[in-house]
Amino acid sequence: MNEFYNKDIISIKDFSKDQLEKIFTSTDKVMKLNPSERREICKGKILGYLFYEPSTRTRLSFDSAMASIGGTSLGISDISSSSTQKGESLSDTVRMMSIYSDVLILRHPLDGSSRFASEVSEKPVINAGSGTEEHPSQAIQDLFTIKKEKKRIDGLKIGIVGDLKYGRTVYSLLSGLGNFDVDVNLISPESLRIRSDSTYEIKKKLDFTETPDIEDCLDDLDVLYVTRIQKERFPDEEEYLKVKGSYVVGLDMIKRMKEDSIILHPLPRIDEISSDVDKTKNARYFEQAEYGKHVRAALLGMILNENGL
Ligand code: CP
Repeated sequence: MNEFYNKDIISIKDFSKDQLEKIFTSTDKVMKLNPSERREICKGKILGYLFYEPSTRTRLSFDSAMASIGGTSLGISDISSSSTQKGESLSDTVRMMSIYSDVLILRHPLDGSSRFASEVSEKPVINAGSGTEEHPSQAIQDLFTIKKEKKRIDGLKIGIVGDLKYGRTVYSLLSGLGNFDVDVNLISPESLRIRSDSTYEIKKKLDFTETPDIEDCLDDLDVLYVTRIQKERFPDEEEYLKVKGSYVVGLDMIKRMKEDSIILHPLPRIDEISSDVDKTKNARYFEQAEYGKHVRAALLGMILNENGL
């Protein structure tokens, strides 16, 4: 039996290097199929989505991925229009969705929400973003993008810049990178440094250095992963205003980078990458978003088919 069949995807920490490589291989396979072959993968299956926080890419890429492999989607993207407004609990809402669908994706502001949902759901649960903790399918998409665009992950020098305190994609990406032989530079203002409680495990697998000055490593990087400062997670707007605009990747910065370096961003972007970078050959964040659809199609295909893809 395919090892991903009926598996929850809650944390990137639950995946070995070998399993990540299998997902990359399946994604490549899905990308090579023609549309009619692709539509056979999850014919008649239903994806249920529950979003307690806003989303563009994660929800729509899952939706688009499911349609491309022959399934359909239903769900709640605006929680204010659901019975949550009448006081229905997360537990009951998840139970309902698991009755109406074959696989469930959940985005929720609380850490631990997806783990909790997986315990009450009758169907597999995919964490589509839980608090400041994890966004595992984004990390798989990020690793896949690096592999496709740089032809390898091992041996690369990777800079991660921006809001490392609140950005859940950063924690999932770092845990995923822990499976590979990479040098990581973490670049952030002092107040947005990575949370030490969350990096206790990551430190056992991954060497990283921390700096507030991007110039310390810029010319040496193969990949620069830029993140948004997460205004909505600051307890105090004054604190946000102090760090707003700390780093802006512009054409001047690109000129100081290796010619074949790539710029990634999980998106949405606010002002941390100037729009004139979009037309450079280094900008790969829109390709990254597109790979997300294929990675998610592969994940759904593996979770919903006993014999795999
Ligand atoms: N990268 C990401 O999670 O984007 P959305 O918030 O638009 O889903």
